[in-house]
Amino acid sequence: MSRRRQLYEGKAKILFEGPEPGTIVQYFKDDATAFNNQKRGVITGKGVLNNRISEFVMVRLGEVGIPTHFLRRLNMREQLVREVDIIPIEVVVRNVAAGSFAQRFKMEEGAALPRPIVEYFYKSDELGDPLVCEEHITAFGWAAYPELDDMISLALRINDYLSGLFAGVGLRLVDFKIEFGRLWEEEDVRIVLADEISPDSCRLWDMKTNEKYDKDRFRRDLGNVAEAYQEVARRLGILPEAGPRDLKGPEMVQ
Ligand code: TMP
Repeated sequence: MSRRRQLYEGKAKILFEGPEPGTIVQYFKDDATAFNNQKRGVITGKGVLNNRISEFVMVRLGEVGIPTHFLRRLNMREQLVREVDIIPIEVVVRNVAAGSFAQRFKMEEGAALPRPIVEYFYKSDELGDPLVCEEHITAFGWAAYPELDDMISLALRINDYLSGLFAGVGLRLVDFKIEFGRLWEEEDVRIVLADEISPDSCRLWDMKTNEKYDKDRFRRDLGNVAEAYQEVARRLGILPEAGPRDLKGPEMVQ
């Protein structure tokens, strides 16, 4: 890491001032936390893999017209992104009951949902990221109604596209968490996808075996955590060391 002004250190990333105004460098750490920081660990190589996986996903989403903060990957652990005002809401989209949703409704993990369900959590370590609704978000001024409309429609488009992308490599997109930011362009403000999309922020299950390829391996002490992240990268065709065949693109699973 070169010497730059550090803007913020989160649980899995550090943000530095970027080389040009309006840009930020996202540095991906190997640190992992769960349950609001109560469980901590290191997943060796996670930062490198998440940097690549998130780059791949953000670029693909950009190609289908989803506005994102992503500019370019700089090196193994860093990517350049546009500076945005992060909206303090975690938007979760669920296709299958799992995690806190399965617990809340006493549903079995793996039960299909009648349609994708969008939930909001207020980003606050102190409060433990509580589930909130549109009334809370607008009344407390975290986001305005038109911004929420953009966030929901983008979240559902992202879900459609990513469900297909991961299904193509034999992975079921069970649920995921995304964050949005306000991008200021002269007089204009628009909502763009920010943060990261990686096995830290998605649940990905093998289509055939339901084996987990995501951070639940760390949360639930299932073992082979780094291997699971590697397998996601390998299936997406973005692990250069996996050989030239894998560099061509996603591997199709019948
Ligand atoms: P949950 O079932 O624990 O609410 O998680 C829903 C999705 O959001 C899951 O894919 C994991 C992701 N997630 C995060 O990215 N960060 C978090 O802090 C939490 C709790 C979940």
